[in-house]
Amino acid sequence: MAESLLYDANAPRELRYQALTSQLKALFDGEHDEIANAANMAAVIATAFRFHWVGFYFVKGNELVLGPFQGPVACTRIGRGKGVCGTAWECANTVVVPDVDSFQGHIACSALSKSEIVIPLKNMKGDVVGVLDIDSSQLNDFSEYDQHYLESWVKLYEEACYA
Ligand code: SME
Repeated sequence: MAESLLYDANAPRELRYQALTSQLKALFDGEHDEIANAANMAAVIATAFRFHWVGFYFVKGNELVLGPFQGPVACTRIGRGKGVCGTAWECANTVVVPDVDSFQGHIACSALSKSEIVIPLKNMKGDVVGVLDIDSSQLNDFSEYDQHYLESWVKLYEEACYA
């Protein structure tokens, strides 16, 4: 299905989120594989918003291990409580970092990353099984709207993969 996404690349971000929500649902429809769905979701977000890096890490033992992503090569393993990703895992909540240089312990995979948002992925029991990590080359690039829509997209992902 859906070889191309339908949205106005010049529209405000909120309209792009709205236009793409039903298309993301359609991509997940009947597909339960967490890698396949993560790959398409990373592609949708990276294409629509041109963020510097968009990707997934999955919990394996006591580490997060790199999953599907779009962008430059990244670190492959992150410990629990380490960096922004490991912090989001540990606290089981979204972490928004307006300026990565002010976040103690930030793991700098790329010097171009200036701000980021990390949203935990939870299975139906509520256990954190991974994170969605999005890095921007702009400072303070993630608003409450971004958080709202990205969290709702993570919920769609969780329902598709873990229900
Ligand atoms: N920024 C992350 C590390 C992962 S890379 O940016 C892709 C962190 O501090 O958790």
